[in-house]
This record gives sequence, C-alpha cells and structure tokens, in this order.
Amino acid sequence: MVEEIAVREKILALKEERDAAILAHNYQIDEVQEIADIVGDSLELARAAASLDNATIVFCGVDFMAETAAILSPEKTVLLPAGDACCPMAEMVTAGELLVFRSKYPEAAVVAYVNTSAEVKAVSDICCTSANAVKVVESLPETTVIVVPDRNLARYIARFTTKEIIPWEGYCIVHERFTPEDVRRERALHPAAEVLVHPECRPEVIDAADHVFSTSGMIRHACASPSAEFIIGTEIGILHRLSRQCPEKCCHPLSPRAICINMKKTDLAKVHAALERMEPRIRVPPRIADPARRVIERMLAIR
Ligand code: 13P
Ligand code: SF4
Repeated sequence: MVEEIAVREKILALKEERDAAILAHNYQIDEVQEIADIVGDSLELARAAASLDNATIVFCGVDFMAETAAILSPEKTVLLPAGDACCPMAEMVTAGELLVFRSKYPEAAVVAYVNTSAEVKAVSDICCTSANAVKVVESLPETTVIVVPDRNLARYIARFTTKEIIPWEGYCIVHERFTPEDVRRERALHPAAEVLVHPECRPEVIDAADHVFSTSGMIRHACASPSAEFIIGTEIGILHRLSRQCPEKCCHPLSPRAICINMKKTDLAKVHAALERMEPRIRVPPRIADPARRVIERMLAIR
C-alpha cells in the first residue's frame, strides 16, 4: 500500500513534468482508473485524444486505442504503458484481406470498428465504435455496408437499418463467451435486475437482455435508471466505475470470467515506467496515419 502511494505520487509528479494526460478505458484495473484524468469508452477516449492540449498522452488500454490517439494527434507523444496489450478481435482482419473482400462488393461502403489496426482503418471509408455504430451506418449514402471485424456488432446494427449489412466473421473472445444460459442464471438469482449487455455479445444474448449499450452507455443508463439492480454483460473492469459513479446501485457481472487479459496488462508500475522513459511510444507512419485520420475524423464529425 505504501509502495502504491509512492508510485502514484511519482506518476503525478512526472505527469506535470511531461505535460501528460492519462486516458484509461472502462476495463482498466481499479488503480489505473483512479489515477486517470479521463476514464471512458472508445468513443469518449478518441474524442478526448483529439481535443486535449497536453504534449503527451498516456493511453491505458490496448494498442488500437493508442494508435487512434496517435493518428488524431501526430504532434503529441502517445505512450502505451503495456506495449504488448492488443485486441485479438482487431487482429482478425488485415488490410490485405479487407481489400480482397471489398473488391467483391464494389458498391459497398466499409465501416471499420475502432477495434481495428491503423492499416485496416486506412483502407476503410469510416470508423465506428459501439456507441455510434448505427448512426454511422445510417449516415452513409451507400445501401450496402461491410462491417469489420465484429460479426456480432454487424448483426446488431442490422436490426436498426434497412441497409444490407455484410459482416466480417470476427468476434471478441471475451463477449463471445456469454450465453443465454448466463442471462437465465443471473436473472433467477437477481429477479429485479435489468440486464445490460454490450453489442459485441452474440445475437441470442442480446435477445435475452433488456438493453444494449457501449461501456459508458451502460454507466449512464445504470445511473439514470430508476432500477436499483443490474446484471452487466461486458468485461468486469466496468464494475469499478459503476461502483464509483452510482454507489447506490447494485451491479452483478453476467459472468465473473469476463476478463480481457490485454486490458489487465497495464498497472501503476508500467504507467510510471512509461512516463519516466517516454516509451513504449506509438508511432503510425504518415502513409497509414493520413488516410486512417480521414476515416476516424469522418466518424467524429457525426454527433
Ligand atoms: P466500448 O467502446 O464500448 O468501450 O468498447 C470497447 C471494447 O473493446 C469492448 O470490448
Ligand atoms: Fe478486444 Fe474484446 Fe478485449 Fe475489447 S474486450 S479489447 S474487443 S478482446
């Protein structure tokens, strides 16, 4: 504990020295969320990365999030304290594979989930996150839309649009594991609770839930809802933020096994080391960053 306080103080001092802002995703471990300037979902963190004036951004999350920040702010130093934190779903599509796939549907637009590499974004038309995916698809003039890489998000979008949605067959290894049986079991244990799930869940889990939200959407809903109890169908790191933002509400995980190991790779020691060494630094070469920036900014222009 004494050690933890000392590391926290060192981080705060270095943060001043480096003119740094610490951004943390809702799935980060409690101590990292506590030290962050902004905790949020992918869309909120992308908007923050674009608008902050700090010279340095410390991104506590996974690689595609830090890449997005580096693309949006090429003049800033973007650090990813856990340099090996990746998103296995983002790795389920490469730019080469996507180019071959889209050549089969010349009339289609390509929507890249923010959980993709910079290279994949660079060969897409627009980005989306779980918070704005339907709005993004509806904003397009095309009536056929390829959605990469998450098949579950693609099928979720298809519920709200008359456009033809062509899914890429990727998935999140954490959300794919939830089952309708998890929903039945937890509802039996907590009959008064509302079930909130993420759009990365399988269609049958979405059918069994009460509401579908991005991670921050879940927090906003839980705080504003008259219900006192919730079953939360996403990565369990979000429970910490829920307990801080609405301590009077009782939130149960849909499954205690819903842990994204990559999101858990960041700790205070790594945040401190990153600020001290100004490494691991995320750099995206301009030939990829420039087209990827257009794709991300096109999404950010949608309100
Ligand atoms: P959010 O954008 O809802 O925070 O989701 C990011 C993510 O990686 C979900 O698994
Ligand atoms: Fe990727 Fe799933 Fe982890 Fe989110 S929870 S970072 S989608 S593996």
